[in-house]
Amino acid sequence: MFVSDCLNVNEKGHLTIGGADTVDIAEKYGTPVIVYDENQIRKNCRAFVNSINEYYDGKGRVLYASKAFSCLEMCRIANEENMGLDVVSGGEIYTALKAGFPAEKMYFHGNNKSLDEIKYALESGVGRIVIDNPEELQTISELAKTTGITANIYMRIKPGIDAHTHNFIRTGQIDSKFGFALETGEAMECVKLASKAENVNLIGLHCHIGSQIFDIAPFVHAGEVMMKFIADIKNETGIVIEELDLGGGFGIKYLESDKPVKFEDYMDPVSKAVKESAEKYGVPVPFILIEPGRSIAGAEAVTLYTVGAVKKIPDVRTYVSVDGGMTDNPRYILYQSSYTVLCANKADKPRDMTVTVAGKCCESGDLIQENTDIQTVEKGDILAVLSTGAYNYSMASNYNRVPRPAVLMVKDGKARTVINRETYEDMVKNDI
Ligand code: LLP
Repeated sequence: MFVSDCLNVNEKGHLTIGGADTVDIAEKYGTPVIVYDENQIRKNCRAFVNSINEYYDGKGRVLYASKAFSCLEMCRIANEENMGLDVVSGGEIYTALKAGFPAEKMYFHGNNKSLDEIKYALESGVGRIVIDNPEELQTISELAKTTGITANIYMRIKPGIDAHTHNFIRTGQIDSKFGFALETGEAMECVKLASKAENVNLIGLHCHIGSQIFDIAPFVHAGEVMMKFIADIKNETGIVIEELDLGGGFGIKYLESDKPVKFEDYMDPVSKAVKESAEKYGVPVPFILIEPGRSIAGAEAVTLYTVGAVKKIPDVRTYVSVDGGMTDNPRYILYQSSYTVLCANKADKPRDMTVTVAGKCCESGDLIQENTDIQTVEKGDILAVLSTGAYNYSMASNYNRVPRPAVLMVKDGKARTVINRETYEDMVKNDI
């Protein structure tokens, strides 16, 4: 019935998540509030981990892409579920370390890591640093030398696959701020630089072809392109690349009409393609990594708001205003992202009203969804926006000095706070 198995409707006609009544949660914790189902997050983690075991003989690791939603509890869960972590800033490294996440299972991405971030990663023992440009290679080499360590690095490659337009033409992706292009020769050039650089060990390659992808073919194709490059590296330089990180990007359900592919259905053909390419090119089968973010946490949370004004503009539209908006969910204003919206306290009623859900910010574009069907709502109702678990809290802001919402996790029907609601005091804590 819903976008995730963790959602249901109880005998009161209220929306539930992980068995907990969302209307009770809104009353107890206030709104806006983001509520996750912990069991469902863990199930997703296990589905990914198990599929590597099943289809790739366990020769791999799943990294949770913490940019989707990072906090201490989420890092603890990823660790307990035997995953590594994709981190993309000093702040994400710090959060993970605070949560007790082992540094050696962190993979540090980013197209412009600062000197301080690289130092921090090296000193903390972050497992792999994914270099994005030759400048970074040089900085890492110099810093590693002064601290007397050898840094294990990957190179981020642009495999030339645009997963969103079904365009596999290799020139299609040169225009990206991330990584090294294959077709211009810059990738091979940097491999050669890396082979000569002191205190660095090039052991892996990485690529990431996009996000919210529902097709299998681009992932398979990326695997093949990367394996071909691994073979080219071996032939030209003698370097044997042992690890291959194929990134994240697996699509989830925002709308009933979205049809995500089961993760196993990616992993099976991708594994086959990588193994077959290894044989074809005479290179070892690499240790493989994947980096799901959205597909771990995205569909397993809802945001609850309280309805304020309902403004009917005859022959134009009806605006339903809520007590949050672009500050806790900037994805509509940024990408016009689709969401399913419903009235949590009338979840068993027909959706007979077409409305535009508006946030509270001083900005006309501050909308959560336009022309969406919901139950007939009025002031005081609780509105639930589904699938807000990825890139919502992590991209939240304090525009208009609106405090960020609280974040809860429900486990076996019981809710607990994992991030406190910000206070007005928090709004001025760095002001002088
Ligand atoms: N690995 C790398 C190197 C990435 O850049 C990303 C996402 C991931 C893994 C995880 O991708 P996922 O499995 O979550 O699709 N803010 C946008 C999404 C940006 C994705 C950035 N990179 C949104 O709200 O849709």
